[in-house]
Formats: sequence, structure tokens, C-alpha cells
Amino acid sequence: MFKSPTYHNRRQTLLRQAPAEGLILLFGNEESPMNYQDNVYPFRQDSNFLYFTGIMDPHHFLLIDPATGESTLYGDDLSLDHVVWMGAQPTMAEKAAAAGLEKWDTYAAGLAKIKQAATRQHPVHYLPPYRHDRLILLANCLEQPTAEVEKGFSEQLCKAIIGLRSYKSAEELREMEIAVNISRAMHLAAMKSCRPGQTEAAVAGIVEGLAVAGGGRLAYSCIGTINGHILHNHYHGNTIKDGQLYLLDAGASSPSQYAGDITRTFPVGQQFTSQQKEIYEVVLEAQEKTIAAVQPGRSFLDVHLLAAHTITQGLKALGLMKGDVAEAVQQGAHALFFPHGLGHMIGLDVHDMEDLNEDWIGYDETVQRSTQFGLKSLRLAKKLEPGFALTVEPGIYFIPALIDQWASNHQHQDFINYPALEAYRQLGGIRIEDNLVVTPTAYEILGKPIPKTVTDIETLRQE
Ligand code: GLY
Ligand code: MN
Ligand code: MN
Repeated sequence: MFKSPTYHNRRQTLLRQAPAEGLILLFGNEESPMNYQDNVYPFRQDSNFLYFTGIMDPHHFLLIDPATGESTLYGDDLSLDHVVWMGAQPTMAEKAAAAGLEKWDTYAAGLAKIKQAATRQHPVHYLPPYRHDRLILLANCLEQPTAEVEKGFSEQLCKAIIGLRSYKSAEELREMEIAVNISRAMHLAAMKSCRPGQTEAAVAGIVEGLAVAGGGRLAYSCIGTINGHILHNHYHGNTIKDGQLYLLDAGASSPSQYAGDITRTFPVGQQFTSQQKEIYEVVLEAQEKTIAAVQPGRSFLDVHLLAAHTITQGLKALGLMKGDVAEAVQQGAHALFFPHGLGHMIGLDVHDMEDLNEDWIGYDETVQRSTQFGLKSLRLAKKLEPGFALTVEPGIYFIPALIDQWASNHQHQDFINYPALEAYRQLGGIRIEDNLVVTPTAYEILGKPIPKTVTDIETLRQE
């Protein structure tokens, strides 16, 4: 948790940009049962509530009254019975003080205030409820059907919060470096320990253990797989074999809940095969070139297209693509191999603020989201500004089902050498991902360097 002025100042800034009438409601999260009430998933605080209060415990919310500028924290002091099971906990007074809040009251009193506002036709400005318990609670308070509540969130409030959280402060960046450095330890351990004959789960277990040892946990379910071409593959049941590639996309959530999001791909054997190496070098070139292109004023769409060009050029040199590179990219032929976006904002959330609407985060009036396969998955396209934290994560994948479908449709056959792809069908996928912050002049990579050249990775694999 940061010191109380951080949260006070954030709320004051929000007040200047948020709706001027009614009540601003920021819900914290509740415990979420796994299979019965008392057996819960690990608790994860709502990122917006956390951003404005620093409070990491369940069952609280904040009401901000724009008319008076007052913020009130709602929640309940724990009973002696709770203390018996959970140990001593900070009081509401202590939590409020740590968050720089002068007013607090019980949870029930807060709900009554929301109901009263709704009855008096005072607008209640809330964020899109992504959990059903919040949705139902809001529907009860506002006396509206859930379908209406789902649509009734405040665009102005979402945009005001995006306007704050998009710019990472120095103290946030220090937390993000902690997250990346824990993630680095996870990747180094995987690269050093992975052996043929193990299951993917054995490696994933080491990775997750280090996230927990770092004082937090994983920022998202780890992707640790020999089937790197399955983009969000959370299955860890395969036995890994010499000659295969292992793609690890794993990031820690720091003790303060900032996310790291790192991907490395390494050979299960001690060395890359020549075929793996030639594709790996293309991905690495795309990653290094696009990182070098990050600077304020440049649109991330342009940086994404630079990755697409570099990948197309590289695959053409290997005989897997053909024709004019610029035209191939313009028509989207490269998306057979690179079907996702180059990156996204990162912060408290791994895909930062995505609960507030992807397009309001990554796009603006100067750039519209494309509908083209591949490009439509680009989450961040607008001009970069100092303070933006983002990932850069190009990849090349050989997805047999996609190759077969495109080949049978003769899709982009002027740009893709389908017969040559046969020899690559089993290669899987390669992605390399780092986390950056845009500085006033260029960029900085967050955290200590994590090996990514062929030589550095092979050296680690031989240790
Ligand atoms: N870890 C998911 C992603 O890279 O976006
Ligand atoms: Mn990732
Ligand atoms: Mn990512």
C-alpha cells in the first residue's frame, strides 16, 4: 500500500474529471466461493477500488459525493468471532486513515445510501460489474433488472479512471518492477529446471510456487506448454519431450497486486533445432525492432505493423511467405502466423483496465479498431504517451487447423507458400514478451533483463 496522500490525490483528480452530480460508487470485491461458502478462491481485490483506496480486504465499497467532494468508506468491523478464526484485523478507522479517508460507516449504511439516491432519482455512477454478485447487489439497490444494470454503467466515470490509471507514477513503476523481477525468477527457474520426461505441470508448479514465494501469486493462469500455438493454453498434462519447444507465458502479481506478463520460449533439449532457431530469430528480431520503436507520439498500431512487416520479411526469407511484403501485411496474410496483437497496457491488471472497455483504453478518435483477422485482436493502437506501461509480445505460430482451413480456401495464396509449411506443422509456437514503460523520450524495459537470445537461452539450458 502506498502512503495515504497517494489515494487522496487520486480521488481528488478523479473528482475533477468524473460526473459532477449524484454519487460515484466504487465496489471492492467479495470473497468468491469455489465449491461451498467457506472454501474460497484466492481473494483478488477490484483494481479500481484498490487504486483509489489501497485496501486489499473483501467486503468494502467507496462512495464519492461530487457535490461535497467527500469520500466515505463502507465496510464492517470484525466481530470477536471473526477474530477467533482470522486473527486480529485492522479496524475500519485504521483502514480509512491509511487510505486518507475521514469518513466511514457500516456496509448496510452504505447500501441504504445507494438505495436512497436511486429512489430520489440521484444518478449513481458505477463501473461495469464483471462479477455476478455485484450485479445482483446493484440490481437490488437500484431496483432495476440485471440486464438494465449491465448497460447502465457510467461511460464518463470509466473514461475518467482510464485517464488516471493509464499514466503510471514512479511509485507504481517500482511495484511493477517488483512484479517483473518475481516473474523473471519464475522464468529462470523454468529454463534451468525443465527436463524431458517431466509433465508441463511439473514446470508450471515450480513457476507458480515462485509467484507465491514472491509474496503474491500469478497475475493470470500460466501458459506453460509444448503446444505454444494454442494461444491461451492452460492445459498442463502433456509429457515434454526432447526436440520440442516449451512456451512459458507467466507473470507474477506482486504483493501490492501489480502484474508482470512475461513470455519466453526455450528448447526442451539443450539446443534449438535449426528449424526452431530460424523461426526464433525472426520473432526475436520483431521483438527487438518493435521495442526500439516505442516512443511517445508513435501509435502502437504502427509498432504492431512493424512487427507484422518484420515477421513477413523473415518468413519470406525462409520461403514460407512470398510476394510483396507491404501488400501481404496490408491484406493480413501474416496473421496466419501472427494472429494476435503486439501488446496491451499493463498495470494492476495484466490487461490493464479491461473491465472498463477495451476500446476506450487502446483506441481513440484518431484510430478505429480493424475487423481484419489478426488486427482485430490488437488491444492497444493509439498514440503512446509517457507513463503508459505496456507489453511487447510478437509471436509466430503454426496452427494446423488454421493452416488447413486457409489452404483449402486458397486464402492469401499469393503470399503464403502452403507446400513449404508442411515441414513446420509440428513446430508449435514461439512468443517473446517483455514489459515496458514509455518515457518522455523513448522507453524503458521494466525489471532486470531476462535471457532471450538463442545463445543466452542455450547456455541456461546447458547449466
Ligand atoms: N498473458 C496473456 C497475454 O500475454 O496477453
Ligand atoms: Mn503474456
Ligand atoms: Mn501480454
